[in-house]
Amino acid sequence: MRKIILAGNWKMYKLVAEAQEFLRGFLPHLSSTPEEREVVLCAPFTALSNLSQSLQGMRVLLGAQNIHWEDAGAYTGEVAGPMLVELGVRYAIVGHSERRQYFGETDATVNQRLLAAQRHGLTPILCVGETKQQRDALETESHIFRQLEADLVGVDQNNLVIAYEPIWAIGTGDTCASEEANRVIGLIRSRLSNPNVTIQYGGSVKPDNIDELMAQPEIDGVLVGGASLTPDSWGRIVNFKA
Ligand code: PGA
Repeated sequence: MRKIILAGNWKMYKLVAEAQEFLRGFLPHLSSTPEEREVVLCAPFTALSNLSQSLQGMRVLLGAQNIHWEDAGAYTGEVAGPMLVELGVRYAIVGHSERRQYFGETDATVNQRLLAAQRHGLTPILCVGETKQQRDALETESHIFRQLEADLVGVDQNNLVIAYEPIWAIGTGDTCASEEANRVIGLIRSRLSNPNVTIQYGGSVKPDNIDELMAQPEIDGVLVGGASLTPDSWGRIVNFKA
């Protein structure tokens, strides 16, 4: 059985007080969320400590948005696995397209970060996906297969989540059609040694398209940016109608 995982990616949003206010609005929605759905919030590093205390004993799990490959060292501005583990963090997004595009993340560093997350018992959420240009040039499949091949060297597929995030659909309101997301995710699955890896869709997921996306047989969850920032829209997403 593949796990259903609904993960919010808050990106560079929310002060601690705003995160607290979010929880006040969001937590009541969980009373209608089926037990088997895992709910994750990938908050900014600065909010993790506070959130980890507030979420003790709750079913919301915490994720980070990045992780360094060394356990400690002279790496100004980076955060290491043990620092996340200490705060009770369970997931780490790795290789988000914004990191690849703006911060020089490469498949080689993505691979090292995935291995580090697993070494510390965290579950990495590996993001892959094509640009609009690659899609138009019919390179979607070859690009994603190349990313998977390079990113997953030595990675344990028993402790892994993959998010298919077409870059042209991120933050644009331009969602990938659910059948197309399903098709690409099926192709990703066909390249894995473990077919039970949870594979999410990400890119302009909203309350009005979540039911349709989650009805697709290959889609096991979602990675959500903008619509995870407000309690009611995130509440509607975790309570998608099956
Ligand atoms: P979005 O972002 O939901 O705002 O499109 C998704 C992501 O970047 O993970």
